[in-house]
Amino acid sequence: LPTKSGWTIALYNYQGHWHYARQLQGVLSCQKHFQALHNDILLVTIPKSGTTWLKAILFSLLNRTRFHPTQDDHPLLSNNPHMLVPFLERWLYMEEENPDLSSFASPRLFASHLPYASLPKSVQDSKCKIVYLCRNPKDIFISLWAFTNKLRLQEMGTNSIEEVFDKFCEGVTLYGPFWDHMLGYWRESLKIREKNYFLTYEEMKEQPDLHLRKLADFLGCPFSPQEEKENMVGAILEICSFKMMSNLKVNKEGKLSYSEVNNNTFFRNGEVGDWKNYLTTEMVERLDKICEEKCDGSGLKF
Ligand code: A3P
Repeated sequence: LPTKSGWTIALYNYQGHWHYARQLQGVLSCQKHFQALHNDILLVTIPKSGTTWLKAILFSLLNRTRFHPTQDDHPLLSNNPHMLVPFLERWLYMEEENPDLSSFASPRLFASHLPYASLPKSVQDSKCKIVYLCRNPKDIFISLWAFTNKLRLQEMGTNSIEEVFDKFCEGVTLYGPFWDHMLGYWRESLKIREKNYFLTYEEMKEQPDLHLRKLADFLGCPFSPQEEKENMVGAILEICSFKMMSNLKVNKEGKLSYSEVNNNTFFRNGEVGDWKNYLTTEMVERLDKICEEKCDGSGLKF
């Protein structure tokens, strides 16, 4: 990836997708060593699709009997969601070739940005469940551009939107091409519905109650009549809301322990359609055309 300052970041293409060198080591270790259990749950996204939000939601949902979402010492109030739900290939297996996962509560919840074709074989072969969160590529792009500029700002100045956009459209972006990433999971979700759940950021924003209930059903932990009476759904959505999470001290001031990234970089504005404020008509046409061509015949639409 060439940058404005002339500084370059090398990306490597592995199994059709782009990775940083260091991160690729994590991918390889994870592929070699990770053994999925039948009741594991894996949240998969391409970066900037709303991973942080879904990590918080799935964590709260699965742990709601241990930690009631309204309790004062709920783990989400003092931990960034990335610390509660680690990325397999970016945190666990990047640090160690074969990390000890025995402390993870059952069912184990992990996240990943891996494309379907690069998932460890045990994930594909086992009955573990996969939740894929997809987002409109135009919003992913704006979120990604803003995110990388925030990370680069102090050192090198910002990348122009045109520069990053060209690469995004060519598919040269972390874990990209985005269309292959999305289509890989989309096709699996049509084939084996009880294993693969495909959800969009936009659906979740529009009808969060409905989709939280659907997620609970898919994961085999539906809300009981008592929980419905007590508005457990509303309580989970509240603690995971953008307003609540972005205002927590831990997310305003903290840093991820396994990287230099500030927690606040994961919270920008959390809206649908912010691309309208940045992309030119030509950019929109180019990206729409790519999406139409790549998704043609698949049933996936944005
Ligand atoms: P924007 O940059 O469009 O605001 P990821 O977690 O995959 O890195 O995605 C980050 C995007 O999710 C950012 O989008 C961020 O603001 C948004 N986000 C983070 N927490 C959220 C929440 N609780 N609700 C809705 N969106 C959230």
